[in-house]
Amino acid sequence: MLELPDGAYLWVKALHIISVIAWMAALLYLPRLFVYHCDAEAGGELSETLKIMERRLLRAIMTPAMIASFLFGGLLLVSLDVGVWGEGAWEEGWLHAKLVFVAGLAVMHMMMARWRREFAEDRNMRPQKFYRFANEAPTLLMIGIVIFAVVRPF
Ligand code: HEM
Repeated sequence: MLELPDGAYLWVKALHIISVIAWMAALLYLPRLFVYHCDAEAGGELSETLKIMERRLLRAIMTPAMIASFLFGGLLLVSLDVGVWGEGAWEEGWLHAKLVFVAGLAVMHMMMARWRREFAEDRNMRPQKFYRFANEAPTLLMIGIVIFAVVRPF
């Protein structure tokens, strides 16, 4: 669909991987902050500090990194069947599986943004255990995505 100039495809792929690493770092760290936040007394110094850390992590890193991941990933996507593999890239099963798992990461992102708002308003009702489990979901999705993208088992 879109023909990137010679060599640009690999640069876009490098930028894609860089932004994905930043997105993942934030998706793994934010629920850890929620775990600590559960123990902090509402209105206390720790709770107020965690609110600032959570807001900055979401706004300065997590959301921009997600947008960059989609932007560069999307650019790779629309140039797939012109460049590296020729026609037929869209028939590959791994690509569809990867995109489903990426949608899962985006859902996790939105859920975390909602939980952050609840903490910011001292409205969290969930136990610490919940956020420990929530921490595992992005890890499992990421493992699946990397295996689909690199090993391409189907
Ligand atoms: C946000 C939506 C995303 C889209 C549309 C997308 C799309 C793509 C495309 C089309 C490629 C090129 C495949 C190739 O040239 O071989 C690629 C490469 C890659 N993507 Fe994504 N991706 C997205 C998110 C992610 C995420 C969240 C991760 C990891 C957690 C990820 C990890 C990778 C890796 C490791 C490669 C390199 C594969 C290789 O060259 O062997 N991507 N992506």
